[in-house]
Amino acid sequence: MSPTEADYQRAVELLRAGELVAMPTETVYGLGADAANPAAVAKIFAAKGRPADHPLIVHLSGHDAVDRWAEQVPAVAWELMEAFWPGPLTVILKKQAWVPDAVTGGQDTVGLRVPGHPVALELLRRFAAATGEHAGIAAPSANRFGRISPTTAAHVAEELGDAVSMILDGGPCAVGIESTIVDCSRGEPVVLRPGHISPLHLEAILGRRPAIETAVGAPRVSGSLEAHYAPVTPLRMVAGERLLDFINAQRHRGGKCAVISANQPPQAGMPHAWRLMPADPVGYAHDIYAALRDMDHAGVDLIVVEAIPEDAAWAAVADRLRRAVAGAGQA
Ligand code: TXA
Ligand code: MG
Repeated sequence: MSPTEADYQRAVELLRAGELVAMPTETVYGLGADAANPAAVAKIFAAKGRPADHPLIVHLSGHDAVDRWAEQVPAVAWELMEAFWPGPLTVILKKQAWVPDAVTGGQDTVGLRVPGHPVALELLRRFAAATGEHAGIAAPSANRFGRISPTTAAHVAEELGDAVSMILDGGPCAVGIESTIVDCSRGEPVVLRPGHISPLHLEAILGRRPAIETAVGAPRVSGSLEAHYAPVTPLRMVAGERLLDFINAQRHRGGKCAVISANQPPQAGMPHAWRLMPADPVGYAHDIYAALRDMDHAGVDLIVVEAIPEDAAWAAVADRLRRAVAGAGQA
């Protein structure tokens, strides 16, 4: 599971040569390239099939690198970075003039994150030692555009295959959904993407509840496009009390469905593809992408997801499921 010394050396060499290296983070696997090299960053967009105006997150080895990439960093951003880094938080800041447009999608801001995964941190430290002051690894989730984010090295291989020079295997991701994104470039912090670090966690540091602005269709955050994180198989959300009736009706019509439920274990006569999920939002988030991916391979016509609680604690999972429903069923 742990990369060897030779693996790290090769990964650093590939990054320095402008090639792509997939790396584990605590959230999802990232498709990494030298963030200071626009030609290398262009390869990320080609491999993912992602529109070039979508900005990427730059991963750094530590807080000390922030000032090389960002300027006018407000005190509130430092407080968040101190509290949550290394960890699943991305902070949007005013960029330094030199930061390539390829990374920022031409915006005057840059997204920065110090990931909380030992393999990512080791790679980032070695890359920084070899590269100097402009060391950063640009990395979106290592999936094809719009598809389910990978939480294991095998998922990355399945998504991108030969398009990536090397995949560092760091085991399954601990968090399982993408980082919380907080925009600190406009004064008051604004949450652009919900994640494992919840508004309550942020409030504990900020002393007030941050605004949330995950506007549907907004181009600024690609995860905020309506359709995202999606299986190829159509996906439906069904309320818990209607779940069994819905499945039975499907079966009577000859439809094959797969079920993802946090409350209802499979019973005799139920579809064979049935995933009983953890009933808490953290456990559910950890498993959801792998569950969607498995069910997408189950040879069914429909994936049925039991609706989750409409509770603030479930906001990040709800966000991913809503977009998965919107994007599902498109080959
Ligand atoms: O957990 C994560 O954040 C993972 C791991 C690999 O770090 N990365 C990830 O990257 O989810 P990606 O590209 O799939 O999503 C990054 C999001 C995009 O929605 C992008 O638009 C947004 O971050 N973003 C990056 N830079 C931004 C900026 N300057 N302003 C606004 N949004 C930005
Ligand atoms: Mg993504």
